[in-house]
Amino acid sequence: MISDSAKKQINSWIEKYPEGRQSSAVMEALRVVQAENNNQLSHEAIQAVADYLQMPGIAAAEVATFYENYNHKPMGKHIIRFCHNISCMLNGADELIAHLETKLGVKTGEVSEDGLISVKKVECLGACVGAPMFQIGDQYYENLTTDKIDDIVDNLK
Ligand code: FES
Repeated sequence: MISDSAKKQINSWIEKYPEGRQSSAVMEALRVVQAENNNQLSHEAIQAVADYLQMPGIAAAEVATFYENYNHKPMGKHIIRFCHNISCMLNGADELIAHLETKLGVKTGEVSEDGLISVKKVECLGACVGAPMFQIGDQYYENLTTDKIDDIVDNLK
C-alpha cells in the first residue's frame, strides 16, 4: 500500500523527530500517501500509514478526518482549494467560486467530467493580503479575477 518512494519521503520526515516519536510525522505521511493514491485516502491507506508509523489506526484516522486537506472520496488530478474566509469573502470569493463552478460545470466537492479538476472551499490559507486567492498543489494564486481564473484553469487542461 505504501510504495518504496513514499516510504523514502516519509522516512525523511520521521528523521526530523526524536527517536521513538515517528508518529509525529503522521500529517506528512498521510499527505505523501494521499498524493500517490489519486488525491484520496482510503481506510486501508490510513491504516497502512498508522502501521508504518507504529501508531493506533484510530489516531491516524482522527488526523485524516480532522483536517480538510485530506480527501476521502475521489478528487480530480488538480484540486483548487479556494479560500472563502473573511478577507477573501469580502473581496469577492463567493462570486469567483460561482464563476469557477460554472466554468468547470461542477459544484464544490465534485470532480470535473474529465476527472482533471476538483474545487474545495477552504478556510484562511494565510495569504489574506492577496485576497481573493486559491491554492493548487504547492502554488498560491492571489488577487484573483474571473479572467485570471480562466487563464489558470485553461492552463491546467
Ligand atoms: S481569508 Fe483568504 S487567505 Fe486569509
